[in-house]
Amino acid sequence: MRRRTCILFSIIYIGILSINLQANGQSIRKIIADAEKQTWLMLSEIEKAKSSAVSRGDGKNPAFSPRSLSTGGNLTLVSSSDWTSGFFPGNLWLLYELTGNELWADRARLFTTEMEKEKLNAKTHDMGFKIWCSFGNGFRLKSDPVYREIIIESARTLSTRFNPLVGCIRSWDHNADKWKFPVIVDNLMNLELLFAATRFTGDSSFFRIAVSHANTTLRNHYRPDNSSFHVVDYDPATGSVIQKNTHQGLSDDSSWSRGQAWGLYGYTMCFRETGDSLYLKHAEKIAAYILNHPNLPDDLIPYWDFSLENTEGEPRDASAAAITASALFELCTLSEYGIYYHRMAEKMINSLAKNYRSAPGANRGFILDHSTGSKRGGTEIDVPLIYADYYFLEANKRQRSLKNHKGLAKKNN
Ligand code: GLY
Repeated sequence: MRRRTCILFSIIYIGILSINLQANGQSIRKIIADAEKQTWLMLSEIEKAKSSAVSRGDGKNPAFSPRSLSTGGNLTLVSSSDWTSGFFPGNLWLLYELTGNELWADRARLFTTEMEKEKLNAKTHDMGFKIWCSFGNGFRLKSDPVYREIIIESARTLSTRFNPLVGCIRSWDHNADKWKFPVIVDNLMNLELLFAATRFTGDSSFFRIAVSHANTTLRNHYRPDNSSFHVVDYDPATGSVIQKNTHQGLSDDSSWSRGQAWGLYGYTMCFRETGDSLYLKHAEKIAAYILNHPNLPDDLIPYWDFSLENTEGEPRDASAAAITASALFELCTLSEYGIYYHRMAEKMINSLAKNYRSAPGANRGFILDHSTGSKRGGTEIDVPLIYADYYFLEANKRQRSLKNHKGLAKKNN
C-alpha cells in the first residue's frame, strides 16, 4: 500500500512538472534542435574522415561509425565489429523519434544496414550495444520484420557465449593469458536484446539466459556497499569465481564510474522486463550508492572512478552521467522513490546540457564533451564519446515522454 501511494504521488509530481517545462534548465526543444545541427555536421565529417588514417577499420570491414576524436582532433571512425558501432545509428533513430523528421529515419536506415553482419559475430558479448541500439530502435519505431529477424539471429549468436556452469555470458576473448572466462558488469546491457528475442519468438531460452546472467552478476559482482567490481573471472569448468579485477577502473577494488552506471541501467531494465522486485531493489541500492557518494561532485557529473582519493585535476566522465540520467528517468516510473530519482535525473541532465555540451559547430558534431573511455589505459580521456551522446538523447527522450504523458506512462521506453 505504501509503495502504491508513493508511486501515485510520483505520478502527480511528475504531472505537475509537465506544466512547468524545465523552469531552471535548458528547454528540451532547444537541446534537440542543437543536437540535430551537430548531427548534420557529423554526417559531413564522417564522409571526410572515411578516407583518413584515423579511421579504425578492423581490416576486413570499412570504418563508418563515429566513436570519438583523435588526439589531433580528428573524427575516429570504427567498423561494425567495434563495440561502439551501433550508437550512431541509434542516435539517428532517436533523432527521428524526437523530431518526426523522416530524413533522420532515412539516414538511420543507411547506418543500421551496415551493422547487419554483426548478427553472426560470436567473438564478443557486445551484441546488445551493437544490434539493440541500431536494429532494436529501428524495429521499435518502424516495425520492419527484417529488423526483427536480425535481432532474433543476433540473440541466437549471443546465446552461444553462455556457459550454464558459470550462469553467465562470457564477455571477452582477449587477454586469454589473464582471464579464463571474464564477465564485465557492462554485459548486463546486452540482456535487453535477449528479453526482446523471447518476446518475438516465444522461446523462453533467451529469457532464462538473461535472468541467469543477471542473478549471477548480482551475486558475484556486487560488494556490500552496493558498488560493483568491473571484471569477475570464472572457471568455465566448474563455474567458481577465480578473481575479481578491473580493466578500466582505478584498481581492482575501486568503483569505476561507468560500471556503476551500466549496473543501474541494467537492473532497472531487468525489472522492467521481468517484474522481479529483486532487480528493482538492487537498482535502488545502486542509485543510492551513486547519488550519495561523497565523491559525486555538486554538478552530479562523476569523475571517472568514484574511489579516487584525490579528485584534483581528474577527468569527469559525462558518459557515466548520461547513462545514469537515462536509467533514473526509467527508474522514477517504477520505484517508490520516483520523485527523488526524477529530481536527480533532471539535475543531472540539466548539468550535462548546460556545461558539458560541445560548442555549436565544434567537436566534429559530437553533442557532449568531457567523457573518459579509459583513464587507466591512457585512451579517450576527457573527450567526446558517441555513447555519451546516445544516452543523453535517450535521457531527453525519456524525460520528454514523462512530460507528454504527464507521468502516466509506466514504461517510458
Ligand atoms: N563497455 C565498454 C565501456 O564501457 O567502456
